[in-house]
Amino acid sequence: MTQVLAITAILLLELRIFAIWTNGVLQNEAVLNDYDRKDLVEECKDFLTLNDTLVMNGEVSVLESENANIAIMRKSLQEKEFVEIDYVFLSKCLFRTNFYCTPKKNQPNVYDVVLNTTINSRRYDQAKIKLKLQLDKRDIYSKDVVLPKLFNLSSVHLTIDGLKLTSTNKTVTLESNSFTLCCPPLRYPCNVVVFAEGHVHETRSKCYTHTTAQTMNYRLGFFVCGSEHYSNHFDVLINIVLQSPAAEGSTFTIVIIVVLVIALILLVSILIYVYRSIRKSKKHNDINVSPTAKRSPKDKDNEVKIQLESASMSSTKASKRRGKKQ
Ligand SMILES: *[C@@H]1O[C@H](CO)[C@@H](O)[C@H](O)[C@H]1NC(C)=O
Ligand SMILES: *[C@@H]1O[C@H](CO)[C@@H](O)[C@H](O)[C@H]1NC(C)=O
Ligand SMILES: *[C@@H]1O[C@H](CO)[C@@H](O)[C@H](O)[C@H]1NC(C)=O
Ligand SMILES: *[C@@H]1O[C@H](CO)[C@@H](O)[C@H](O)[C@H]1NC(C)=O
Repeated sequence: MTQVLAITAILLLELRIFAIWTNGVLQNEAVLNDYDRKDLVEECKDFLTLNDTLVMNGEVSVLESENANIAIMRKSLQEKEFVEIDYVFLSKCLFRTNFYCTPKKNQPNVYDVVLNTTINSRRYDQAKIKLKLQLDKRDIYSKDVVLPKLFNLSSVHLTIDGLKLTSTNKTVTLESNSFTLCCPPLRYPCNVVVFAEGHVHETRSKCYTHTTAQTMNYRLGFFVCGSEHYSNHFDVLINIVLQSPAAEGSTFTIVIIVVLVIALILLVSILIYVYRSIRKSKKHNDINVSPTAKRSPKDKDNEVKIQLESASMSSTKASKRRGKKQ
């Protein structure tokens, strides 16, 4: 019995020595790795949006695991203090969905820790995340990892022929049967997609020019980071109003009218000028002729007519007055 105990004690001691030897110096430590989207293309390693799965890996080593537990903490932009999101006892490393540990093979008292959670709130936006190793006597922290700004796919707009296109644009009127759809300026790779009549027009670039467009409903969209999972689209009625020949004709008419009016004004001014100069020279010639001699018999007739008219007018007025008195 004492022999068994002694052997067990020696074995335990050897295990401890082995642990120290494999880790250099085994100590109480918590390490949290940087957040990295290995599932996405290189340019998107810091891409994160609401409803994404956040996976973070870390490692802890402890001299004594019996009462030790590891917690994951988060401090949002609004909060002043770190808040514990979840924790697990190292002696009970059960596989769980959100936050769990797994003992490392051949490395006693060393554990992998995994956070595997859904970004279900804005609290993760640019939040600081860290591990807290809770021991009997003290707590040990990892360094903070800062999460990226949460990307909001709904706040992104497209441009159609240089004009902003958002969900508020239900109808877009174009003056030509081709249009160019472009991604917004983003630091992530972006592709535009045009859905028309059951066809999908998709490009590997940020812009796409659609020719032979017609007046009809289009679905115009984009996706980022090479994943259809990160996409958004707008349904719009594209209304094509081509410059009609009638409209061109009316502008032609306006030009002609303007030219005619100018010509008329010029003609009238010339006529007035000519008339004045003729009158001037006539006055000069008439100096020795008497005014009465100028009158023709026709003029006399007119004079008599006018006199008769005014006489009849005053007589009717007088008769009206008389009528009123009676
Ligand atoms: C996230 O998921 C919820 C529920 O599944 C859904 O209602 C919401 O629209 C999603 N939000 C985004 C930004 O995808
Ligand atoms: C994270 O959880 C999902 C299910 O919720 C699972 O499919 C996935 O394998 C998990 N990933 C890790 C690294 O634990
Ligand atoms: C995303 O942007 C849209 C439009 O700007 C806004 O209405 C929505 O609240 C935003 N969502 C989040 C989670 O910030
Ligand atoms: C969409 O609507 C906004 C605001 O009404 C407007 O400024 C913009 O030009 C519209 N875009 C297009 C493509 O018509």
